[in-house]
Amino acid sequence: MKRKILVTSALPYANGSIHLGHLVEYIQTDIWVRFQKMQGHECHYVCADDTHGTPIMLRAQTEGITPEALIERVWHEHKADFDGFHVGFDNFYSTNSPETRHYADDIYLKLKQAGLIEVRSVEQFYDPVKEMFLPDRFIKGECPKCHAKDQYGDSCEVCGTTYSPTDLIEPYSAVSGAKPVRKSSDHYFFKLSDQRCRDFLKQWIAPPHVQAEAANKLGEWLEAGLSDWDISRDAPYFGFEIPDAPGKYYYVWLDAPIGYMGSFRNLCDKLAATAGQPAESIFDEYWSKDSATEVYHFIGKDILYFHALFWPAELEHAGYRTPTGVFAHGFLTVNGQKMSKSRGTFITAASYLKHLNPEHLRYYFAAKLNSSIEDIDLSLEDFTARVNSDLIGKYVNIASRAAGFIAKRFDGKVTLRNSATDRELLNQLHQATGKIYASYDAREYGAAIREIMRLTDLANQYVDTNKPWELAKDSGKESRLHEVCSTCLNAFCFLTRYLKPVLPRLAEDVERFLNVSPLKWETAYTVLPEGHAINPYQHLMTRIDPKQVESMIEENKASLTPPSPASRGGAGGEGAHPVRHGEKQAHAASPSSQGGSPLPNPLPKGEGANVKGACSDLGANVGAIAPLVSIDDFMKIDLRVARIVNAEHLEGAEKLLKLTLDIGEENPRTVFAGIKSAYAPESLIGRHTVMVANLAPRKMKFGVSEGMVLAAGGDGGLYILGPDQGAKPGMRVK
Ligand code: 2FM
Ligand code: ZN
Repeated sequence: MKRKILVTSALPYANGSIHLGHLVEYIQTDIWVRFQKMQGHECHYVCADDTHGTPIMLRAQTEGITPEALIERVWHEHKADFDGFHVGFDNFYSTNSPETRHYADDIYLKLKQAGLIEVRSVEQFYDPVKEMFLPDRFIKGECPKCHAKDQYGDSCEVCGTTYSPTDLIEPYSAVSGAKPVRKSSDHYFFKLSDQRCRDFLKQWIAPPHVQAEAANKLGEWLEAGLSDWDISRDAPYFGFEIPDAPGKYYYVWLDAPIGYMGSFRNLCDKLAATAGQPAESIFDEYWSKDSATEVYHFIGKDILYFHALFWPAELEHAGYRTPTGVFAHGFLTVNGQKMSKSRGTFITAASYLKHLNPEHLRYYFAAKLNSSIEDIDLSLEDFTARVNSDLIGKYVNIASRAAGFIAKRFDGKVTLRNSATDRELLNQLHQATGKIYASYDAREYGAAIREIMRLTDLANQYVDTNKPWELAKDSGKESRLHEVCSTCLNAFCFLTRYLKPVLPRLAEDVERFLNVSPLKWETAYTVLPEGHAINPYQHLMTRIDPKQVESMIEENKASLTPPSPASRGGAGGEGAHPVRHGEKQAHAASPSSQGGSPLPNPLPKGEGANVKGACSDLGANVGAIAPLVSIDDFMKIDLRVARIVNAEHLEGAEKLLKLTLDIGEENPRTVFAGIKSAYAPESLIGRHTVMVANLAPRKMKFGVSEGMVLAAGGDGGLYILGPDQGAKPGMRVK
């Protein structure tokens, strides 16, 4: 049965570069779309740039250009990146479009008609110099908890506390530096707390609309109570003015998902001519309430709240269909850690493309992806090894081993004649079709790749057993050589078909080489016909040289730029709280949002605080957090304030200093600490620090070490910990 499917990926902000974190999603979606298209289904894949909001407005101002000029430029950059990675959108558009405006107004007015829009006065920080309300990300000040200076208005990067901008000590505007004042204005709210929304969502947020793990989280949020959603922003703002509210604009997150519709409507205009159907009717076929088509949104787990609560509730009450499925994925880490500019692992799409083959990354991501919302890791060493071994060593090898003989000895023609062992191999390849189909369809790409590689191994075993290079030496075995090499090429054709959703460009090259029309998904056993002529073999894929990876990393280190509020996390930066009026409370009430959950902090993010493979360091390199421990485990460690009575060099020690520590015991302790690179011993004497007092004594070259001092470190230096003034030696730290 021919299905009609509309697929979207989240819309990237129009003020940041596409990076590998984003690409997890676009590659994941693109593979799925290509797979569905190979089945012969009607499948449309649309996306657009997410163009509105304060960060984009301010970025344009900083650059001295109009927001329209900025989003136009970035659109071309994004388009080039997507093309470079073979992300085959059927339409890549912009939310700043007449179509998106049309549907935004339409949805807003219908919600209003339904009594689901309410106006309320809200007090917010206002920049009296710039004459604008300040999103949380544009207010800075001292952290109320740890007193670190220059922290953003929603959370402290030093101690991790989240708070409201009004909690900041000495707040100032990150835009002008002025002291913000509090000012009230009218805001428009979508009444999510209305019983109708609650009743609808209660039944909607379940599989198959969302993954089981997401359904649990959404259920908790719903139970905690949904607050109304602030969908307006005051001028000056770059966005669409609300029709009946001069000076008020739709908040960027209101029109972003509507951008999916806008992009699709724009595509309908292009499709109308060939479809012989008016654009409006194609659109209605997909979006009307009673639609029989399927709509899927691929998103990062950080924006689940918007897509699985706000968006379906809006659609439902504005008289449209709701999504068939919202598929969330996890974040990307690189070498086990958050992407980091200083480590060079905040890799932009453009820089990757300068050094490496996009299909290598597509393959690696596919091998790692599944249908869960777990994070995935790009280990650069593993990436190199796996691509070289799987794709070049195993897969391409099958064709290169057979092609030469077919060209030279058999006039470039294959034979259908084969033996039982040949058929056995091809049968196994054919029989795997259903399993691979099911894995792709269920977004279990890792499982699909494992199966394809198992088959690739079988094909290589076949080559090793039949040894075409030996058959070639014996003129009496000419016919067998022909059969074996033809079987290899048929096997290669099967494997290429299976890999085509992941490696579309390579598949095209193979189609040219095998001289076949574009490979489709076949359920019937299909092989090259007798006497079919192939084209001369040309090199299909090159190995990754680790030096290419190194130069990419170096380039990304070199492009390190100081962060601005408008460029945090690789994109905009309005932050977590623009939607906070009421919602923060509801989410904070969700107990399981504290640790342990695969879902991130449930506070809906604002524009640009994009953590799809977020950049960790605007300063420190933050490694992966160690597994959870219980409070009991933690309490087993006896930490004490220690006074450094003496510190001295040790002859022959490269890294260690000898410390004498007073923790209020009768005799001071001796501890050998690896801090020589960071401290002169004399600078330590008399200082207070923290030590582990119950660490088992350790015999070292220079004597017995009776504990350990605590120090923070990474690639940015080494810093011993110190308690606040007044702490006395021996006090317990907990
Ligand atoms: O988080 C983000 O990057 C947003 N720009 C995603 C928007 S997706 C959709 F709602 F448009
Ligand atoms: Zn803090």
